[in-house]
Amino acid sequence: MVRKSFTLTIMKTILVTGGAGFIGSHTSLLLLKKGFNLIILDSFLNSNPKVIERISELSGIKNVQKRIELIKGDIRDQKLLERIFDFAKINNNPIDAVIHFAGLKSVSDSLENPFDYWEVNVLGTIKLLQVMEKNNCFTIIFSSSATIYGVPKDLPLKEISDINPVNTYGETKAAIEKIFRDVSKVKSKKWRMITLRYFNPVGAHPTGKMGEDPLIEPNNLFPYISQVAIGRKEKLRIFGNNWPTFDGTCIRDYIHIMDLAESHIASLEFLLKSSSLLLNLNIGTGIGRSVLEIVKTFEKVNNLVIPYSFVERREGDIAVNYADNKKALSFLNWRPIYTLEDMCRDSWKWQKMNPNGYK
Ligand code: NAD
Ligand code: WQD
Repeated sequence: MVRKSFTLTIMKTILVTGGAGFIGSHTSLLLLKKGFNLIILDSFLNSNPKVIERISELSGIKNVQKRIELIKGDIRDQKLLERIFDFAKINNNPIDAVIHFAGLKSVSDSLENPFDYWEVNVLGTIKLLQVMEKNNCFTIIFSSSATIYGVPKDLPLKEISDINPVNTYGETKAAIEKIFRDVSKVKSKKWRMITLRYFNPVGAHPTGKMGEDPLIEPNNLFPYISQVAIGRKEKLRIFGNNWPTFDGTCIRDYIHIMDLAESHIASLEFLLKSSSLLLNLNIGTGIGRSVLEIVKTFEKVNNLVIPYSFVERREGDIAVNYADNKKALSFLNWRPIYTLEDMCRDSWKWQKMNPNGYK
């Protein structure tokens, strides 16, 4: 697969919050390969520091440790954030931009622990933006989510579709987007901001050396299927077979993690040559797939059987959602290139090669 892109010649330093997580680790790898220096800030609440060794190995860069600074810490720790920016300046590598992945992301957990979600996601982001402003760093890419749309009125979902989250997690992402809107309007500051509204990121690095390794119990479809395939779970429970879709199961827009990671590189390259702006972009393939289609494809490409049974609908689920990704395609030098077969093959390769994740 060949991607048309250009490499920046000047080495820029990027602060990647949550860079050890699923999306952060794959993006960090691509950033290194593109020639950026990285400062990764992660609390390892939902990730393993060992991922940094894999990122380094896969980068194939000699003395790569000189290009990555790993800091264990919390985005809510404003003093730490200030020290990170100071330290980068003292070392003549001032932070040019931030990619902000760190946060809590479980819908069910957010309903049980709303304070945590408002504090980590919203307050953590406010503190980060304040420290950025203080240090004249005005370039940021933020991990938003399709979950902010709630129950779609029309499909495919466009960036101008109604924002109507139906759970606490989604509320926090929508609130952060609102903060971005206010901040971007401050005329005296030249903020360059992109919020990427991810649909359903899945898959793994095609080598099988990096993938999704959640420490918090996964409620998502792909990790669950993989765990059934490896024998850690007995069978997949499919939540409902009476949805108003062609086969009765829910439809989502699954996107390969490498395509998603690439969208950050394209966003960064776009921002680094832009003047002040705020862009909200849907990051999906634009193609909806049913749960049964996923199961059948996973079985076919990996030549195995996934036992499943239909159970009651899961509370809060919606029948169908998928992205209109035309805005991202038109603004960014990016388009998704991986197929559903790639997503299923790479997920399984990662699980098979790392039955206990990074442990
Ligand atoms: P992840 O949990 O794998 O990664 C998040 C990382 O942030 C983890 O390494 C975790 O240890 C770290 N972290 C959590 N709280 C922190 C804190 N207070 N301070 C510092 N680090 C902290 O999740 P992911 O799937 O890689 O998601 C990354 C971002 O993308 C999140 O903001 C998530 O809400 C968003 N997102 C994810 C999905 C998805 O399905 N994976 C979809 C839409 C949006
Ligand atoms: C996909 C489909 C389930 C598990 C969530 C968040 C969203 C975003 C991505 C962060 C649904 C069905 C699942 C299982 C099943 N994350 N399913 N059996 O719900 O589309 O989105 O993750 O921002 O905000 O809400 O993803 O992977 O949980 O579910 O039948 O054991 O698979 O009902 O139709 P979802 P998912």
